[in-house]
Amino acid sequence: MSPTAPATPPDELTDEQVAAYHRYGYLAVPAIAGPDEVIALQDIYDELFGSGSAVPDADRFELAGSGGEELLPQIVNPHLYAPSLLETGAYERACRFAIQLLGDGAAPAGTHAIRKPARHGAETPWHQDEAYWAPDQRHYALSIWVPLQEATVGNGCMQFLPGSHRAGVAPHRLITQDAHGLVLSNPVDTGEAVVCELGPGGATIHDSQTIHYTGPNTSDQPRRALIMAFGQPAEPMANPRHFPWRRSDW
Ligand code: NI
Repeated sequence: MSPTAPATPPDELTDEQVAAYHRYGYLAVPAIAGPDEVIALQDIYDELFGSGSAVPDADRFELAGSGGEELLPQIVNPHLYAPSLLETGAYERACRFAIQLLGDGAAPAGTHAIRKPARHGAETPWHQDEAYWAPDQRHYALSIWVPLQEATVGNGCMQFLPGSHRAGVAPHRLITQDAHGLVLSNPVDTGEAVVCELGPGGATIHDSQTIHYTGPNTSDQPRRALIMAFGQPAEPMANPRHFPWRRSDW
């Protein structure tokens, strides 16, 4: 299927999709939001990032850049400022897919919006989401990433290392000392990477330990992505890990 082809969102994942998710640690779904819904989500999204946005600075920050230039602006839990995000068919489907993949106890674990400005949006370097989380807890969680326009290599679609969810959390470091983002400390063999180009309203789903990346946005349009996270309740680990790169642990 071409990345631009419209697709009808399915209500359930197939058994084959569920098996592929568990085997490779990620899954690409051609559609989680229909064309009309993508337009509605774009409007909500642009209002959140707009000049009159109700989002406080505490929940809006720069993931990669420094010096005041917006390279990778992010809003944490945009649904708190735009509750209509949770009333969409895409959110309903995301909840159903999460239960299929994680089991009945899977619950919403927040939302994110990451925007890559046209022509200069920075890369989101190779990382594991779980590297950001409490190391003394066992997590069983996933993220559903939804582009609100075509997602291509040129504007920063998702890329994954298949099977990387099986090896635990690798060492990370801060991208820069004044940014919030993390990057794997050791180089990744990008020859193994799978590039997931998608049409608007498609989705990728990845495990919290799957190593992933998005490139810079070299296109003439902003790259908008909405992320919905789900997880089973975290449990204390018998042998807690230590993530020295976490600011809150310093
Ligand atoms: Ni991530």
